[in-house]
Amino acid sequence: MELPEKVHALFTQPIVLLNQAALSRPPWGHYSREAAAFINEMGNNSARAQGLVGAGGRPNPITQAHTLGETNARLFLLAQPGPTGTPVLVGLLKIGTKQLFHWDANGRMRELQNQVCVLDFYVHEDYQRGGFGKLLFHAMLGHEGIAPERFAYDRPSPKLLGFLRKHYGLADFVPQQNKFVIFEKFFVERPLAPPSPYDSVMNRPLTARGAQGRRR
Ligand code: ACO
Repeated sequence: MELPEKVHALFTQPIVLLNQAALSRPPWGHYSREAAAFINEMGNNSARAQGLVGAGGRPNPITQAHTLGETNARLFLLAQPGPTGTPVLVGLLKIGTKQLFHWDANGRMRELQNQVCVLDFYVHEDYQRGGFGKLLFHAMLGHEGIAPERFAYDRPSPKLLGFLRKHYGLADFVPQQNKFVIFEKFFVERPLAPPSPYDSVMNRPLTARGAQGRRR
């Protein structure tokens, strides 16, 4: 996607990170209208690519410039030199935090506060399967300092599931009603606490455990 000439100078590196605050202060703040326009257009492209369209084919985008603050979102944009050498926008990756509930295969629920989620991920059709998704995702992982299995993925498409399987070996998950995917590997290092021996008041000792018979 063509970028307005005014913002070319802001794409000095292939990957640019934006959030709501960065969009409102210099240098981005000087071009907030232009930035909002190309972020929204890219968000619409992503929505169409994922089939997120409403009546009359209108896209229902996940990424919109004015809603970045709602999930404390970080937006990673990938640009590449176009045919004339000026940067063109190739991909976006939006992450943010949500409060989620997750049920495991045994029906046990876990609440995840401030869970970091991959909310939107899109590489322009002309560039897909060229390694650009990996480039963008890898940069995001490096910035966040989190392994791919630590994220929750919002309604991942078959392409994203293939991507995660191929590049990060992530495959197993328990489908959830809220459509978020959290891979089983997430829980390997965070097992649920074992059931408390005091789960019933009836079983609760009257004295603190270990205190009985202790010598002074
Ligand atoms: N069919 C199946 N798997 C695919 C496809 C496809 N059409 N395209 C990419 N993949 C997967 C495959 O595993 C592929 O490896 P392969 O070519 O050896 O089979 C791998 O991704 C390629 O890796 P990259 O080239 O690094 O990824 P790419 O640049 O294509 O970006 C992305 C991946 C972002 C998922 C891209 O395909 C895309 O934009 N798809 C359309 C939008 C989309 O579905 N986004 C995810 C929505 S869900 C969410 O955002 C939480």
